[in-house]
Amino acid sequence: ALDAAAAEALAKKEGCLKCHAVDKKKDAISLKDIARKHAGKADGEAKILAQITTGQKVKLEDGSEEEHKTVKSKDQAALSNMIQWILSLK
Ligand code: HEC
Repeated sequence: ALDAAAAEALAKKEGCLKCHAVDKKKDAISLKDIARKHAGKADGEAKILAQITTGQKVKLEDGSEEEHKTVKSKDQAALSNMIQWILSLK
């Protein structure tokens, strides 16, 4: 089962919430908008996992570009829980 408190704590610890707020645009799209894009799709979880492990180039709201943040945690169960939490926010 989803542990939302642990997921949010990990998102905070990994710095995700510095750029992504739950329901409004910050330096990047909101977690809700991410959920709306990926929830219910067969590859939704894999896409999010790739985004936070491979360091693809992204464009911030101010127009600057950088490599996307990659997670420090290697705990697959905790990462999967965090991704499921994001997907549940839609
Ligand atoms: C330095 C700012 C920054 C941090 C920190 C950051 N992101 Fe992002 N993220 C972005 C930007 C910029 C994009 C590009 C999408 C956009 O906003 O247009 C993006 C895209 C994504 C996407 C793909 C969205 C899509 O359109 O499919 C996911 C998923 C995502 N981030 C999750 C995370 C998670 C989880 C974390 C924490 C591990 C995180 N991000 C940390 C800035 C950030």
